[in-house]
Amino acid sequence: MATQQVTLLGCGKMGSAMLEGWLADTGLAADFTIIEPHQTHLGWLDGQPRVRVYADCASAVADGAPESTMIVLAVKPQMMDEAIAALGSLAHGDCTYLSIAAGISTGWLKQRLGAQAVVMRAMPNTPAAVGKGITALFADAPEMMRDLATQLLAAVGQVVHLQDEGLMDAVTAVSGSGPAYVFLLVEAMSAAGIKAGLPDDLAIELAMATVCGAGALMAAVDTPPSVLRENVTSKGGTTAAALAVLMADDGLNTLMTKAVAAAKARSIELGN
Ligand SMILES: NC(=O)c1ccc[n+]([C@@H]2O[C@H](COP(=O)([O-])OP(=O)(O)OC[C@H]3O[C@@H](n4cnc5c(N)ncnc54)[C@H](OP(=O)(O)O)[C@@H]3O)[C@@H](O)[C@H]2O)c1
Repeated sequence: MATQQVTLLGCGKMGSAMLEGWLADTGLAADFTIIEPHQTHLGWLDGQPRVRVYADCASAVADGAPESTMIVLAVKPQMMDEAIAALGSLAHGDCTYLSIAAGISTGWLKQRLGAQAVVMRAMPNTPAAVGKGITALFADAPEMMRDLATQLLAAVGQVVHLQDEGLMDAVTAVSGSGPAYVFLLVEAMSAAGIKAGLPDDLAIELAMATVCGAGALMAAVDTPPSVLRENVTSKGGTTAAALAVLMADDGLNTLMTKAVAAAKARSIELGN
């Protein structure tokens, strides 16, 4: 396959994580044009022959940056309108777009990029920073472009394909925002451990290692989480005592249902 020209618009937290994955992917034949106004965190790119970094689109155009096969839109949703307007001649008829912005629909993007534009939409999550993300991709696009988008996203973790863009708000509520729920779980377990008499450091260490270890176990074995839970719950034991609280009518299931519904509603709101 010919070398692809990928432009990354916005190289903040998620953009940097993806770029790191792309550069590490030896199977990805691509060069990268990065548009990012703040570059102090991009020193690690010095001497990278496959990467050109510009503060804005006009500088990239003036410098004769190559025409992109794909432009990855990775600015905050509230900056998207302005960022698209500034694309200028970087946006040309043959390039494809991949947006990772929460809540922004392909319809909204096509209104700005042109009705004929090929626009894909993805929702990654922060474990992408360590190559352990999961990204949902909605790609109503020619196979070659869908494959390139999949390869770009797979460089930072798993990729699942959505046939229905309408699922994106629920995806955002589960996996996009989900890492924060897990971090909160660790905080809650630590605080509860401290209340139960543990020194602060030990409570935090135990809670973190337990969540990481349980995650690694779940990923390593082909056993559903409900079975893993049952496997560590002996009748009348300590885990059963805790789960009776967590699984009560007003327990974790009810709370999580409310939390995910709130995140989904907010995602829909942000998209309007
Ligand atoms: N972080 C996550 O967990 C996560 C998960 C899923 C999806 N996303 C999506 O990923 C996107 C990026 O999020 P992030 O957390 O990486 O945000 P971020 O760290 O703020 O990165 C965005 C970067 O783009 C820059 N920027 C703003 N306007 C620009 C323009 N016109 N051209 C080029 N660069 C521009 C920003 O600079 P300024 O600071 O000056 O604005 C910032 O450095 C968002 O749309 C978000 O919804 C993020």
